[in-house]
Amino acid sequence: MTTIDRVVGAGVDRIDGPAKVRGTAPYAYEQDPGEPIAHLAVVQSTVNRGRVTRLDPARAEAMTGVLTVLTPDNAPRLAEGLASDLPVLQSLDVAYQGQVVAAVVAETSEIARAAVGAVLVEYAAEEPDVVLSADRQDLYAPEQVNAGFATDSIIGDVDQALGAAAVTVDATYETPTQHNNPIEMHTSMARWDGDSLTMWDANQGPHTIVNDLAKGFGLDRGQVRVISPYVGGAFGSKAFTHPNQMLAAMAARVVARTVVFELSRQQMFSLVGHRTPTIQRVRLGADADGRLTAISHEVVEHTARIMEFAEQTATPTRLMYAAENRRTTHRLARLDVPPPTIMRAPGETPGMFALESAMDELAAALGMDPIELRIRNEPAQDPERHVPWSSRHLVECLRTGAERFGWAGRDLRPRKRTEGRWLVGTGVASATYPTRRRRAQCRISVDGRGRYTVEIDGSDIGTGAWTALSQIAADALATDLGSIELHIGDSRLPRAGGAGGSTGLASWGSAIVLTARDLRRRLDDEYGGQLPADGVSVDGGVEGEGPHAKTHSMHAFGAHLVEVRVDQDTGEVRVPRATSVYDGGTIVNAKTARSQFLGGFSMGVSMALHEESLIDPRLGHYVNHDLAGYHVATNADIGELDISWLDEPDELANELGLKGIGEIGITGAAAAVANAYWHATGLRVRDLPITPDKYFRELDLA
Ligand code: MOS
Repeated sequence: MTTIDRVVGAGVDRIDGPAKVRGTAPYAYEQDPGEPIAHLAVVQSTVNRGRVTRLDPARAEAMTGVLTVLTPDNAPRLAEGLASDLPVLQSLDVAYQGQVVAAVVAETSEIARAAVGAVLVEYAAEEPDVVLSADRQDLYAPEQVNAGFATDSIIGDVDQALGAAAVTVDATYETPTQHNNPIEMHTSMARWDGDSLTMWDANQGPHTIVNDLAKGFGLDRGQVRVISPYVGGAFGSKAFTHPNQMLAAMAARVVARTVVFELSRQQMFSLVGHRTPTIQRVRLGADADGRLTAISHEVVEHTARIMEFAEQTATPTRLMYAAENRRTTHRLARLDVPPPTIMRAPGETPGMFALESAMDELAAALGMDPIELRIRNEPAQDPERHVPWSSRHLVECLRTGAERFGWAGRDLRPRKRTEGRWLVGTGVASATYPTRRRRAQCRISVDGRGRYTVEIDGSDIGTGAWTALSQIAADALATDLGSIELHIGDSRLPRAGGAGGSTGLASWGSAIVLTARDLRRRLDDEYGGQLPADGVSVDGGVEGEGPHAKTHSMHAFGAHLVEVRVDQDTGEVRVPRATSVYDGGTIVNAKTARSQFLGGFSMGVSMALHEESLIDPRLGHYVNHDLAGYHVATNADIGELDISWLDEPDELANELGLKGIGEIGITGAAAAVANAYWHATGLRVRDLPITPDKYFRELDLA
């Protein structure tokens, strides 16, 4: 074998790029099942809580082109025990507004949608209970919070330490409900062949969807195949099965045709989850030198009546800074809302907004530089698990960021810089996200001419996994990129976890590295290093977390430094420039990684300034349920972003030394913007988003 330069680390162009820009990469809606496709559209509940008392599909059924109307009366029965919102059309009870109460299947999507309006539905409704507040009497402690974290952590005596502290901060921060809005709406196309189900679907991991479909329809997993080669964005909502997959499969069974169900943008606001709103009280106590003695972070958030989802909001506070006395808690209110779910960096995203804002408030109270305050509280080891870090380069990120941004000489005092009408300020916040690895199986085959086929049920949700995994395989097999043929996004492939928790490359990449090692060993041992004429195939993988996950605390880190301009007449906020520096371990593809960091940070700016799903407290619906009313940052909102990373592979994390980078970019970003806003204006907006009206509200209060 010839020696080939390593391609891991290089900014290789996306191998799926040409097909995507030519429109030849088929997304779920564009698959060709080889027969005319029927279309599904749904009738959704207009009440949050109650029961359907009358449901008459007759007028819809009579429309030309309508194939059937599914209702709780005639829909196929699903197996008991399905989670949350998956038992679609199994009863007349209504648990949230937008819940599917009937579904029309028709020859075209236009007919299906028109027929939805012809289905007559009446309800017996109760008052909706949809408003979260911290003084509700029915708040409860869940058994644990998402990703298996403990609900509370209590170390030392926080109240005593706060009472004795030289300087304290006690502030409450709020983040609103937010909705996942990938460009590609959730889409499922289902076809039955006898008792075998094929589904082309937009998701973050085909195996997850197979499990729920098999369970719901009483099938063996081998009877269900989910195919998802291309996915047009996903931030958590596509990680789990939702009503759309169940409905497409039910309808295809009933009409004995291929059926496709593509959600509308409006339906994205009720059927596929959202990020819970949070109310977070943070208390910090420090000595006069800024050394933290107490950290308290108490979170109140909502969940749905039919399913508990507890966002792990306070978990980053368990590891960011040193302090002897510590407390984190999570309490939930069960409301008449659709089930919340994960959304890019669940936990860290809202939690770091509160913690990093409070750190800024503490720096101001101490008259100390906020970077210096963070460095002064850098913990030598994980302050709650009491184990060493696998690697932690937060201080280096902050220092490098300060240099690149031009932080030195910054006036600590707020509202000291103006340029014309603009108030100008700068702010900083840290970023963090856990490093994990999941079980993943893999098969690598080589033919007699040195062409490798790598098979693994990984997902590329737009992140660049197609390219990054090919790079990892090329290096692991000591060959060139052109000799690798990668197969992902199909449940027939060796089983792997989905794209979630920033675990993709750590899991799938490690599986590829280990399987490649086995294959090369076999070629050496059995074939004297030569390729046998009829090829060899090897199965391998990883079993989940590696040996150091228990003995070490593993996290990615980062620092954001942001300039904010606020129009002193209108309250309009602009972010003209920002610097982010990341400690993400090995960076596999410099180009696609940079795009992940850009996207994550932009989503953080979006959270800081725009994103908010408003629920009507009387009628219980999300009022701004489209992209005209639910604002997200666009290119024109994002200024110059200076993205860089440290060259620090984490030798203990996994075979590749990578930490996972899909989610860290958003963490801390909103706090950096809010802190810069304070520095510009002298006003502290603690409830996101920082819309122009809040400038005048705070001025009035000041
Ligand atoms: Mo990410 S919210 O784990 O898909």
